[in-house]
Amino acid sequence: MTIGILGAMQEEISPLLDHYKTYETIAFGGNTFYKVSLGDKTLIIACSRIGKVHSSLSAATMILYFGCNKIIFNGVAGGINPNYKIGDLVIGEKLCQHDVDITIFGHPFGYFSEGKIFTQTNEALNKLAKEVAKESNITIHQGTIATGDQFVSSKERKEWIKKEFNADAIEMEGASVAVVCDNLNTPLCVIRAISDNAGDEALISYEEFLEHSAKQSAALVIKMIEKIN
Ligand code: ADE
Repeated sequence: MTIGILGAMQEEISPLLDHYKTYETIAFGGNTFYKVSLGDKTLIIACSRIGKVHSSLSAATMILYFGCNKIIFNGVAGGINPNYKIGDLVIGEKLCQHDVDITIFGHPFGYFSEGKIFTQTNEALNKLAKEVAKESNITIHQGTIATGDQFVSSKERKEWIKKEFNADAIEMEGASVAVVCDNLNTPLCVIRAISDNAGDEALISYEEFLEHSAKQSAALVIKMIEKIN
């Protein structure tokens, strides 16, 4: 089995590379992929770079070029749900693109023709994430993640996304990877650790907690990899 693990930034994949230590480095499609051999499992780890386009490219490359059968996205997110605390983990049960707007044609926000507003992730992988978190006494939520090519740092924008999509967390890659995986029939799990609350103070919190939260998320993913089959 070949499992792709994506993060958007180096901080999100470094804890994985530090953990696995031995890997082959492969340059492809303007990016670097790290191949880890673990007996009957192979991991392809990459930093997609930020945003929907880069993450789509990396997810498609992992599936079509590297033959990944499952994808896990691992990283940080801004929390919208008031119950989500910094460092808590969230599984994206379904994801949407909050910055898609063709409402002028009579469609709802987040909708593209021939598409759907929400894309579901894989139930079995999400169940595994919850089991692993429970065993390790880690707080994990399951909710809706809204993705867009914007770092959200405004109470107004955050409240709008919450109202429009009933979203619990915001980030910049999950929904695009979900669309790729859905179309290419590849099970996906999106795990994020909360780094900020996407409000007016988001940047200060993000800069303080990025590294810590990214490690929380990666620690869960490492435990999932041990159990995945
Ligand atoms: N990732 C982490 N925090 C975020 C935020 N506030 N907006 C978008 N992506 C994020």
